[in-house]
Amino acid sequence: MNYDKILVTGSAGFIGHHLVKELLEMEKEVVGIDDLSNGKQKNITDIESKNYTFIRGDVRKKSQVEESMAGCDAVFHLAAQSSVPEATNALEKDLDINLNGTINVLQTAKEIGAKVVFASTSTVYGTPKQIPTPEDTALEPISFYGASKTSAEAYCFAMHGTHNHPIVNLRLYNAYGPRNEKGVMYDFVEKLTQDPSTLEVLGTGEQTKDYIYIKDAIDAFILALQRGEAGEAYNVGSGKAYSVKQIAKMIFDLMDVDPEVTYTGGKGWKGDVETTKADITKLKNLGWKPTISLKEGLKKFYRWYMEK
Ligand SMILES: NC(=O)c1ccc[n+]([C@@H]2O[C@H](COP(=O)([O-])OP(=O)(O)OC[C@H]3O[C@@H](n4cnc5c(N)ncnc54)[C@H](O)[C@@H]3O)[C@@H](O)[C@H]2O)c1
Repeated sequence: MNYDKILVTGSAGFIGHHLVKELLEMEKEVVGIDDLSNGKQKNITDIESKNYTFIRGDVRKKSQVEESMAGCDAVFHLAAQSSVPEATNALEKDLDINLNGTINVLQTAKEIGAKVVFASTSTVYGTPKQIPTPEDTALEPISFYGASKTSAEAYCFAMHGTHNHPIVNLRLYNAYGPRNEKGVMYDFVEKLTQDPSTLEVLGTGEQTKDYIYIKDAIDAFILALQRGEAGEAYNVGSGKAYSVKQIAKMIFDLMDVDPEVTYTGGKGWKGDVETTKADITKLKNLGWKPTISLKEGLKKFYRWYMEK
């Protein structure tokens, strides 16, 4: 099917911005909705296209979801409370946005017949029973953010199971790249720019996670829309894992600094999953593969940071 008009929820966020840009390059008509609670104005104003309409709105309000989705044949649902610590601090709000917002998107999409690609997360697995983690691993989240996303995924599966409506769940690992102003890479670069002589690392530095460059993640979203099987979940990771210490070393080399490193010890933050590595066989079988190495991706990220 040719999807001509597409809604991106959370379009002022890190991934949403890149996705809107890619869809416009594919000559799609794109609508974005975001309440700017975590999104950035520049992620909207940097996009100049007559084919892009931005609506400031809240996915918790069904009428605003309906208005933004009018005439669309597909929706990428990215709007979310996207932080593990924030969810710990305000779990009702996290649930309201991540579950009720998703239900509004699912119901509206079903009413108008739009395919849904939902941005889920690897945190649905909790501390995974298997590494690398295939999609049929038990979903046992250890954070409230993971729990709200698991619930939202359950509603996606239910919408498919009950109404045979086309929904695809993407379980994203740590996406990074230009415009990501959160996460370990941004934190290190920001701290070292301010003071290159010391670096405090949250946790032990032994946390070992899967990082996926933004361009590869965007390719996965597009493929999920075009070829993703309805009612299925796909991991979106690199299939490789790096420790925080390894990332720190790569950043020191890039920035040409040699700081004294201290560790807070213990867990980086409550609810953090310290070991992640995706089994990406399922998405590879659809014709996708990660193309940007961590070293290359970090270079691009740092170049963006310097230009910013
Ligand atoms: N970045 C990652 O590594 C990663 C990993 C796993 C999953 N995800 C998921 O991918 C999606 C995009 O992530 P991101 O990194 O771009 O996060 P982000 O926080 O930059 O983007 C989310 C956007 O949703 C918007 N939003 C929040 N509540 C809203 C509401 N009620 N109504 C409308 N808009 C609202 C925010 O303002 C923000 O612009 C999220 O669903 C996130 O949970 C991201």
